[in-house]
Amino acid sequence: MKILVINGPNLNMLGIREPAIYGAQNYDALCKMINAHSAEKGVEVKIFQSNHEGAMVDEIQAAYGKFDGIVINPAAYTHTSVAILDALKAVGLPAVEVHISDVSKREDFRQISYAGMACVKSYIGLGFEGYCKAIDYLIEKYA
Ligand code: DQA
Repeated sequence: MKILVINGPNLNMLGIREPAIYGAQNYDALCKMINAHSAEKGVEVKIFQSNHEGAMVDEIQAAYGKFDGIVINPAAYTHTSVAILDALKAVGLPAVEVHISDVSKREDFRQISYAGMACVKSYIGLGFEGYCKAIDYLIEKYA
């Protein structure tokens, strides 16, 4: 099974950005955890991060026919991007939404998730662990 993990804007700043919300571990630590978990479970993984909405759309489109599932944390684009929602719908791959923080307990503007409307499952507020749970869910349901 091949899984694409997509991370949106400012997630490359983990460890520096708002540690009280996102924790002290950096983006490299997140990637290492995802790679180790995927290896342990015997799945191939590609991790992609971009600060640009169009680049994320391009990556989702390029996954068509190449990957079996997507784990996506669209970060701030979660709450604004119809383009990412449409891209997920266009490729039709099972997608799982992840948020490190518990967006349900944060500002009003974080209460809508466009990408989530095209996702089969969401893991919210579990820190980095949400990515492992999302990978496990895709394996359980779609491998
Ligand atoms: C986030 C939550 C978003 O609201 C925020 O814009 C992010 C990160 C999270 O992982 O908790 O950048 O997606």
